[in-house]
Amino acid sequence: MGIKTLSQLNPQKAQVILRCDLNVPIKDGVIADDGRIVASLSTIKKLLAASCSIVIIAHLGRPKGERKSELSLAPIAKRLGELLNIEVSLPNSITGIASQVRALKSGEVMMLENIRFESAESSKDEAERSALAAELATYGDLYVGDGFGAVHRKHASVYELAKLLPHAAGDLICAEVDVLEKLTKNPNRPYGVVLGGAKVSDKIAVISNLLDNVNLIAIGGGMLFTFLAAQGKEIGKSLVEVDLIPTVKELMQRAEKLGIKFLLPTDIVVAPEFAASAKPSTVSIDAIPANQMGLDIGPISAANFAQEIKKCKTVFWNGPMGVFEFDNFAQGTKVVAQALTEVDGLAVVGGGDSAAAVRKLGFTNNDFGYISTGGGASLEYLEGKELPGLVALS
Ligand code: 3PG
Repeated sequence: MGIKTLSQLNPQKAQVILRCDLNVPIKDGVIADDGRIVASLSTIKKLLAASCSIVIIAHLGRPKGERKSELSLAPIAKRLGELLNIEVSLPNSITGIASQVRALKSGEVMMLENIRFESAESSKDEAERSALAAELATYGDLYVGDGFGAVHRKHASVYELAKLLPHAAGDLICAEVDVLEKLTKNPNRPYGVVLGGAKVSDKIAVISNLLDNVNLIAIGGGMLFTFLAAQGKEIGKSLVEVDLIPTVKELMQRAEKLGIKFLLPTDIVVAPEFAASAKPSTVSIDAIPANQMGLDIGPISAANFAQEIKKCKTVFWNGPMGVFEFDNFAQGTKVVAQALTEVDGLAVVGGGDSAAAVRKLGFTNNDFGYISTGGGASLEYLEGKELPGLVALS
């Protein structure tokens, strides 16, 4: 894959700067899904077994250079400490702490506060990012990149810092890239992609790039209504991105020319408002009432999607089919998730949010071939884009 692995770097007794993606959902100070923390353990344990000391750099949310107490990494450092059964320290400052960081001993783990509290981390100005990276580089001897979910960001701790020190990719990044390579290079066929989520604008590029490689595309989630609108259907109060209707029409025409099965729902669960308590009813896509909005794919569509998914040998899924957070509108997502667990081949759940969704619905990591920790990162990889965090590790 062109990136150096941990065993090639062979980090014995070194002080290692480890970039992780620990951007986990936190509600009222409580971690709702620790999947990304658990996914980072393999590399951390290997480094500890090699008698290294570790300085973890991670982000939470998008504080854009502002120090926000609700975006402190404190609950994450605590959870990581519990999982490792050691204390993970968390100094109050990110910069200007070289002597404290350098005092770490073999087997000790320190986490720096949310790196996005530093505006230079995500600055558009390369000089600003480089200056932060130069300071961070004094905190260790080696750099290991393992924050797959952030490799599509050209940020100081993901890109510039990696280039300043001898570096390698951690186990998580290697595993993620391995799976993505299986999806892009010669996948077993039929190859189906299921896309959902609210915004079609987030998925246009990936659909466009995938059309040349897949046999089936199934569309659910809020984004499906832009497709229905492009077919001239009445979509009531459902989400729509009107400016994208021409692009969506073009995509459907291209899919038809290429002979790709392009599945849209035939029935929809609608409700008068976006609320957990809203009264659901199921209607045909040709009869969506003007005063209602679509909040899930209907049962006939879900069963049809499931049947087609199960015929595939390779499946990639990103984005829920409906508002799975509300019980009345979670069924479509559940049925699709269940179908993925029954695929006789490689079934990949892509995305931090999709991963959290399937776990919230009661599935476990072992139910699927692979659950990616990167939402935007895996989509951008499948779009064929160069990912700065991978480029830096090459
Ligand atoms: C994610 O949650 O997808 C990653 O942590 C990247 O976060 P970002 O979209 O805020 O850069």
